[in-house]
Amino acid sequence: MKPDVPAAEDYREFLGLIEREGDLIRIKEPVDPRFEISAYARRSCDLKGPAFIFEQVAGYPNWRVVAGGYGVLRRLLRALGCDQKEAIERYREAIGKPVAPAQVSGAAPHQAIRWEGADVDLARLPITTHSELDAAPYITAGVEVVKDARSEIQHLGIHRMQVKGPRRLGFWGANQRRITRTLLANEERGVETEIAVVLGGPPAFTIAATARVSHQIDKTGIAGALLGRPLEVYRCLTIDVDVPVAEVVLEGVLLSGVREEEGPFGEFTGCYSGTRTAPVMEVRAITTRQNPLFQDALTGVPMTEDQTLMWLPRTVAIAEDARRVHPEIVAVNWAVADGGVYQAVIALRKRLETEVWSVISHVLSGNSLVKYCVVVDEDIDVFDPQQVAWAINTRAQPHRDVHIFPTMIGAPLDPSASLPNQTSKLGIDATIPLGEERWRYERIRVPGADRVKW
Ligand SMILES: Cc1cc2nc3c(=O)[nH]c(=O)nc-3n(C[C@H](O)[C@H](O)[C@H](O)COP(=O)(O)O)c2cc1C
Repeated sequence: MKPDVPAAEDYREFLGLIEREGDLIRIKEPVDPRFEISAYARRSCDLKGPAFIFEQVAGYPNWRVVAGGYGVLRRLLRALGCDQKEAIERYREAIGKPVAPAQVSGAAPHQAIRWEGADVDLARLPITTHSELDAAPYITAGVEVVKDARSEIQHLGIHRMQVKGPRRLGFWGANQRRITRTLLANEERGVETEIAVVLGGPPAFTIAATARVSHQIDKTGIAGALLGRPLEVYRCLTIDVDVPVAEVVLEGVLLSGVREEEGPFGEFTGCYSGTRTAPVMEVRAITTRQNPLFQDALTGVPMTEDQTLMWLPRTVAIAEDARRVHPEIVAVNWAVADGGVYQAVIALRKRLETEVWSVISHVLSGNSLVKYCVVVDEDIDVFDPQQVAWAINTRAQPHRDVHIFPTMIGAPLDPSASLPNQTSKLGIDATIPLGEERWRYERIRVPGADRVKW
């Protein structure tokens, strides 16, 4: 697939693009990596404001820190060079037709500065502390890469990493994650799990890392398909893992058989996770570009980078799954844009009155991260929260059109759930009943309102 508007090739090109458009601001005053950088990111996420480059980070004269890069959806879309609807289409095509990466020999630009062995010290990096009760500074924007020794497939994911010592990081990965599964399989076979943490990689690589696809697919190929050409990758210095051009790469191993306390950490739900038992990475090398940029990401009360980066894979996964059974579905949005963590909006060209409930029950039972599902008619834009709210208010009668479903598999981190990973669910049919006079439900339009400019 060749995109019409090219996606940003690498992280610096992406930052240059958004800076030229006034969507990235340089902060020249000194800032503290403990809370202060996140405070800027928090406020900017709330106001749908810009990304930042912090040019003076207290204690780190050789570093600049980037925060809020993907803090609003428009910047994620800018990185891809398209709008929401097209992004969904491109992503859907990309996961169906990955483009294998191209290996480049020689040193990578991010191997200009190298620390190995005893020189490795995480205190050299401007790792930030994000939320009030976080246990420690966390690396939050890294794409972790491991290789499955049996299949040779590289596995990608974004996982938070807690600083525990000069060469020690806690790794949090839910049980179903491919990196967790690779670690478990390697532990069973007595094989070491090499791991790279990539910060400031090409936007397509970061976006591809969150894909929800079969574990047989190498997500590096999804990045290539998003770019429209093979992603160039370089061999790491000390491990048998390939990574694209980045700002910083940490190399090391996930220690076999080692589990330690991790957390608490301010999670994507907007609440804290407690402490857990989690694997540990031993860092054996750190490489960086000249004048490196340290990429940070905020997780917390929606919307943050967590939701924007998860929006495409979740939306496409819900849509692909539901469309297999219900081809009348016109559009799907995992509607995090309006602050929800667990809600989906589906536009349907309804043929049968009860079809809505087949769709709702399918989406609710098939997606652990959907707790609320709203179905609207195709004249409602699922990406516009005001239109969706309007449809609920004018097209649904609560006694007839709202149903509560019994407890089923639900979101792992929902603090209101009384059983782990299980929640009750709710569906709303906000479609016009078939057979009714449609003009009574039509949205009023003012001719020309979409054309005037001032
Ligand atoms: C900013 C950000 C942080 C994330 N942190 C974690 C994490 O700490 N642990 C985790 O299991 N998933 C985390 N995720 C979600 C995974 O990266 C995501 O689900 C990815 O698809 C994992 O791939 P897999 O399910 O194919 O293994 C995070 C996502 C984002 C965007």
